[in-house]
Amino acid sequence: MQSLAIIGSQWGDEGKGKITDLLGAKCDVVVRYQGGNNAGHTIIVGDKKIVLHLIPSGVLHSHCTSVIGHGVVFDPEAFMVEMENVSNSGINLTSENLKISSNCSIITYYNKLLDGQREAKGPVKIGTTGKGIGPTYEDKISRKGIKLRDLFDLDILTTKLEANLIEKEALFKNLYRCDYPSAQEEAKRLYELGKKIKPFATDTFSFLDQSIRENKKLLYEGAQGVLLDIDYGSYPFVTSSNTSCGGIYTGAGLPGKSISEVLGITKAYTTRVGEGPFPTELFDDVGEFIQTKGGEFGATTGRKRRCGWLDLPLLKYTVKASNLTSIALTKVDVLSGMDTLKVCYAYEYEGETIDCAYPGIDLSKVKPLYKKMKCFSDDFKSDTLSKELEDYIKEVEQFIEIPVGIIAYGPERSEIKFRKDYF
Ligand code: IMP
Repeated sequence: MQSLAIIGSQWGDEGKGKITDLLGAKCDVVVRYQGGNNAGHTIIVGDKKIVLHLIPSGVLHSHCTSVIGHGVVFDPEAFMVEMENVSNSGINLTSENLKISSNCSIITYYNKLLDGQREAKGPVKIGTTGKGIGPTYEDKISRKGIKLRDLFDLDILTTKLEANLIEKEALFKNLYRCDYPSAQEEAKRLYELGKKIKPFATDTFSFLDQSIRENKKLLYEGAQGVLLDIDYGSYPFVTSSNTSCGGIYTGAGLPGKSISEVLGITKAYTTRVGEGPFPTELFDDVGEFIQTKGGEFGATTGRKRRCGWLDLPLLKYTVKASNLTSIALTKVDVLSGMDTLKVCYAYEYEGETIDCAYPGIDLSKVKPLYKKMKCFSDDFKSDTLSKELEDYIKEVEQFIEIPVGIIAYGPERSEIKFRKDYF
């Protein structure tokens, strides 16, 4: 296999970090292609906990080159902080092991301010991470965004920021009534950051093209999950990028090639942070139990994650929407030892029973139908799994029609069983 994509198949936080880290070890290049520092990948190595938000997980392996593709929205200040944290863990970032597309869109102070003001004062609360992700993608789509390469020329940067500020200024002054820096001040701040980032900035499109021609092994590291995709997700409660497999083609560049394997990372239950409908959400002690045992707090914002049973109609949909070829079932240990276990196998929706969600379905109006599963209490110390857990896995596989290639049952690199070969 030459290329593998790792995609969150639910609402993010499925445990992509650990699996990306393990499979990244077998790759030459690890690529981020969408989102920004709204992501949070936690990786436990020995007694060290490393949380990466923007920098690809490949940096943890000395033989890997990590790439931040042009589809990523890039916060230069957050990058500098993260680079320092990574350096403190003993990992030295150089222009050889980290390459950032000069064409990345920059998250400016204005974008972060707008995100925060809308969440605090706007009519619809999405529950964003407050990192300026949405407003930066808006700037990009409306063709007035700032690109990384603009940070290297103060005159160009100032002119672009002046133009960028015109509409926003009207909102800051008249609607949100908040303070904001002048275009000149913001240009100076970004220009100074740009000087430090310039050594990493490059044409990643050609680098990836060359890597593919040289038969290098590539891993595309997705952030968030398919249900947060701007087109496929539970709109408007989504992020602003294409978190599904399609985002790779526009956000990284994969000239004329296809991806050999698309691995969907799936929690054995479901979680969500932020607002938005969640059909299998549990509001009782069981939900509380899963939240506590699973340590379900956001890696980026520290918010409590909402918890519920595994939702197979949503999973069947994300398999189709992101062309998943296998899944990794993670955090299985959290369900072990519980005295009730259910999965949602269908919805009642608009007078019909359906077993697969679809774009635009109103998830707040579906009635989930549950199947009671036999409880399992594996301690994962032996090579085999209990019959009850095997049955749970089989139920999932039969429903989504692709294999469960990985079982993960704890945060450590070693707490994983491969049922399929990747690379
Ligand atoms: P934004 O990406 O900050 O604009 O947030 C939009 C929605 O996506 C909110 O519901 C966030 O909670 C959610 N979100 C963004 N990034 C992540 C993530 O890495 N994990 C889980 N949810 C996320």
